[in-house]
Amino acid sequence: MKVDILLGLQWGDEGKGKIVDFLAPKYNVVARFQGGPNAGHTLEFDGIKHVLHQIPSGIFRKSISNIIGNGVVLDPVIFKDEVHQLEKLKVDPKKNLQISKKAQLILPTHRILDAAYETAKGEDKIGSTLKGIGPTYQDKIGRLGLRVGDILLPDFIDRYNTLRDKHVETLKFLKFDYELEEAEKMFLEAIKYLSEFDLIDSEYIVNQKLKNNQSILAEGAQGSLLDIDFGSYPFVTSSNTMVAGACTGLGIPPSSVGEVYGIFKSYCTRVGSGPFPTELHDGIGEKLREVGHEFGATTGRPRRTGWLDLPALKYSVMINGVTQLFMMKADILGFFDEIKVCTEYKLANGEVTDQLSYEMLSQEVEPIYKSFESWSEFSKVPGSLDELPYQLKKYIRYIEQEVGVPITVVSMGPDRTETVS
Ligand code: GDP
Ligand code: IMO
Ligand code: MG
Repeated sequence: MKVDILLGLQWGDEGKGKIVDFLAPKYNVVARFQGGPNAGHTLEFDGIKHVLHQIPSGIFRKSISNIIGNGVVLDPVIFKDEVHQLEKLKVDPKKNLQISKKAQLILPTHRILDAAYETAKGEDKIGSTLKGIGPTYQDKIGRLGLRVGDILLPDFIDRYNTLRDKHVETLKFLKFDYELEEAEKMFLEAIKYLSEFDLIDSEYIVNQKLKNNQSILAEGAQGSLLDIDFGSYPFVTSSNTMVAGACTGLGIPPSSVGEVYGIFKSYCTRVGSGPFPTELHDGIGEKLREVGHEFGATTGRPRRTGWLDLPALKYSVMINGVTQLFMMKADILGFFDEIKVCTEYKLANGEVTDQLSYEMLSQEVEPIYKSFESWSEFSKVPGSLDELPYQLKKYIRYIEQEVGVPITVVSMGPDRTETVS
């Protein structure tokens, strides 16, 4: 068997949680491979709306094994709270969740450092979710980090104290005020709680499952335009959100990658700072935010909104080798009379390009648009792609032709059932 990978192609919040939950019945395993509690993946079904941050979106399906891979940075305090929220919904993650011993731990001081670095950046801040993501990956790469498996070692507390003291020194240097006592107490309690879970060498489990013909869906967090290498650096997250991140974040060879599902909204949103060529600062942008309920699932921040950006979509499809496209929130564009799609960018020197080059991402650009007629609102979600409104089919066909990849799923609402394939 192969591992199918689902990733966001824009700046995150494309609807990954909804689609993983929708696809999950086809799979034996759902595995998260990168990111941490900066993610907020929303699932809606049976009148329940639930937001997951670190736990894979297959958790509501009892028959599915869920794995948090080594590429993830895990906050034990948020994890404990996530599990408690699930227990209220009669879901017991102790039964169908395993966690890699090689995943990195987010310490309370990582979160404080995140805030200190952002404060020091002033107007140039990244707009981080302040969950400690950057500092934790920094310690991973710096070979200083603590991993989930370390919590089982007899000298874990000594290791924790050593790393915390390093952070405290840095915070002194940054002259940043903070409270640690309560956060540290909660962290140590949460560590104890975490040790009751099934902590595994997930690379062995995943590869064994593949050998045993089990189907695996890898769930990405964030989106390709937030990738540490290929996103709009430095306004990115600190992990590889692209397809290669699934290999390093789960321990699977590239040859085991099957379908690459690329998910995008029928328009664009971004939270946090950084370039956003098609951003709308007018009433249309405001309306997109209102009808699309574009407020962060993790931080509640209003999302910046704009029209679909085709050059950016093509770029993400290229670096990920996307084999199928899933278009989300098609219902939202039905509230507008005219819809626009950016086809190219005009640079300051007058040059026209459809590439997200180093130069393009470091300057103001003028998007060049193509207009489409909208589809009217619909009373019932169609049963098949063929039955979609004519104007929506035209919009889909145009994107498919431009990008060169078929759109095989169209989402028409937040609920699991509002999905056309
Ligand atoms: P993720 O981070 O990629 O999982 O996406 P988020 O959960 O952060 O944001 C997507 C939001 O859009 C959530 O509130 C979803 O419930 C909602 N959503 C997903 N698909 C659709 C759709 O097709 N139509 C509408 N109206 N909402 C959707
Ligand atoms: P999901 O998985 C949208 C953004 C932040 C900020 C930048 C860096 O729900 O799509 P970080 O906390 O990683 O230091 O923030 O990345 N960001 C996201 N934006 N969706 C997410 O996750 C995000 N995770 C991080 O807003 O601009
Ligand atoms: Mg989200």
